[in-house]
Amino acid sequence: MRLTEQEQAMLNGEFGPGFARAMRVLVGIGKAFGAQRMVPISRGHISLSNQEGDLWFVSQMLEEGAHCRVPPTVNPAYDYEYFKTVSQLDGENERILKSTIDVYRKLGAVLTFDCTPFFENNVPRFGEICSFSASGGAVYVNSVLGARSNREAAQSAMCAAITGVTPEYGLLLKENRAGDVLIRVEADAATEYDYELLGYCTPKKMGQAYHQPVFEGLSPQTTAEQLMNLGTQLNVHGIVPMFHVAGVTPEAPDVETAFQGRKDYPVVTITDEDLAQARREISAGAGKADFCILGCPHLTIGQVGSIAAMLEGQKLAGQLYIFTSTSTRELARRMGYLDVIHAAGGEIVINSCVDQPCWSHLNGMSGVTESPKCAYYTKRWNMAFTVKSIPACIQSVLKGEIVE
Ligand code: F3S
Repeated sequence: MRLTEQEQAMLNGEFGPGFARAMRVLVGIGKAFGAQRMVPISRGHISLSNQEGDLWFVSQMLEEGAHCRVPPTVNPAYDYEYFKTVSQLDGENERILKSTIDVYRKLGAVLTFDCTPFFENNVPRFGEICSFSASGGAVYVNSVLGARSNREAAQSAMCAAITGVTPEYGLLLKENRAGDVLIRVEADAATEYDYELLGYCTPKKMGQAYHQPVFEGLSPQTTAEQLMNLGTQLNVHGIVPMFHVAGVTPEAPDVETAFQGRKDYPVVTITDEDLAQARREISAGAGKADFCILGCPHLTIGQVGSIAAMLEGQKLAGQLYIFTSTSTRELARRMGYLDVIHAAGGEIVINSCVDQPCWSHLNGMSGVTESPKCAYYTKRWNMAFTVKSIPACIQSVLKGEIVE
């Protein structure tokens, strides 16, 4: 790789051992992927996780004097102040959680604790080079905003935030952003939940050989929430760093442009029966709805408002947790949604993620969620979910029984 004088000085240790370590990691990645050079980043987002390995890595960086030249936003940890009122955290998890937050703070990360920063705190412009980890975040900024980021690990994104550069390969290069399979949607995908089903069944139908689908046949009025759901679920059962929706996303004004002129792409058709089959696979379930978790990824103010409207004047039979960002919760408070949700017996939880060790109070109970990702990730916490649309989840937890 060709490095600039400053990059070479960093690699040589002239900025200190922490910067040298970060640059070594990036040079190693660059060589592995055939990058010719580094390019500056102007934004980053890190999928901070409260896990021993992540803590070890960032602690090394801190001890060696590194700090973030481009302060990144970070994924949720969990809201210790809130969760200590509902469940007991064991000492080891508490140590890792508090230490992780402390180290990220000292390294200069922006502690947003939100998995949808691309809606409010960290919104890249078209063509902007960034380093986003978190599968949902990277796919959204590439596909929907037209920014350029590889699908980073937490560690490589931290190294980019520290050095301010990233190796130029993969999705940073225009030629790698073309679609490789056409998904002809003949199904009637109308609701946010339909887009989740579409994101669930597409990787299964297109197979492992393809990674950048171009969707044709979706509404030009497709919403940001629908696109977020599609991108998130494409990465639960598949590896999709980027997708295009013809007539909707910025690099796909039409199918031909999305394929950058290539004509020999395979075509996969998604029918109503495919969505129905996905619904049967992930939504089958009956019986009790003891609790409901919504917001994996974090919900927008529009989604929170629609939940409040469903809860107006009602009392929940089960427990309801709605995940969102700090600023969206504040907006919900101002809009009166929080009062309605509290009056029904629910809660809006900030800074938190479903995939954290804070759910021991729900062990052995039956839950509903709108998110296949939530149901998949929480298996390791011994949580059992039925996946339904948001309206069906709310009806279920109001009744205490799963409804269609
Ligand atoms: Fe967000 Fe955690 Fe789900 S980071 S997308 S709530 S697994």
